[in-house]
Amino acid sequence: MEVIAYDRAWYERYDRGSDIDEAKKHLEYAAALDLVRDLPHCGASLDVGTATGRYVLAFHRFGYLAHGIDVSAEAIEIARNNLANYGINGSRVRQMDAQDMNFPDAAFGLVSCMMGTLAHITRPDRALAEIRRVLAPGGVVLLSNWQPRSMEVDFLTVNTDAHNSYLSERSFDLEGIVRLVTEAGLVLERHAYAVLLPTAAIRRLIDCCAGEPAGPLERLALLEAQLRGFFPRLRGQILILLARKPC
Ligand SMILES: C[S@@+](CC[C@H](N)C(=O)[O-])C[C@H]1O[C@@H](n2cnc3c(N)ncnc32)[C@H](O)[C@@H]1O
Repeated sequence: MEVIAYDRAWYERYDRGSDIDEAKKHLEYAAALDLVRDLPHCGASLDVGTATGRYVLAFHRFGYLAHGIDVSAEAIEIARNNLANYGINGSRVRQMDAQDMNFPDAAFGLVSCMMGTLAHITRPDRALAEIRRVLAPGGVVLLSNWQPRSMEVDFLTVNTDAHNSYLSERSFDLEGIVRLVTEAGLVLERHAYAVLLPTAAIRRLIDCCAGEPAGPLERLALLEAQLRGFFPRLRGQILILLARKPC
């Protein structure tokens, strides 16, 4: 497989995933927002490889003028429908190649590229060069990657085996992503792992929390934040990294 091209059915299943997929998406989201929570708000944000618009919505809620791009027309259609439910104009998400973006230099204070999107892009180095170009000086990029060397990694249930072996080959560990980011002229600031527990344990916890007022996702995110605090060197299925474009 040269690149993964998801079809509409994949995006629809990804959008309303199985309990375990929703848990992994939420754990990534909670860890990512922890990394950016203390940053001063910096105007416009861009989510690269936005798929269903998850992080456009997340950064909109955080107060950014949130934009997104994806190379897939199906993804953009679904993202526009999702954003319309929250009154966000469809023009905020556009079909565009991350390796050749049609935005002016320094247009965004924050760029995100989540849920292993970098591994989906043919030339991640070109995408990172473009991300650096569209970031304002002092702006930050948030990148999240599956960790194929994590013993427990089993990706999302919505994926096929072919998707997973592609992602296993192309995903970046900490060393690899730091090299790529540094070569692009960005400076690593912080990183965190998400989905710290094996999938079977997460499933058990979801079952245990069913029916509780806070809901299983919030409970899981809280537990994971505590685990991160107690065991700072614990690695998980997803690595999230925050890097800055120097001023
Ligand atoms: C795993 S999905 C992204 C999930 C999404 N970031 C999230 O967190 O919910 C990967 C996405 O990257 C997109 N993609 C792949 N190559 C791309 C490129 N060159 N430019 C922009 N998007 C690309 C795919 O179309 C796909 O929708």
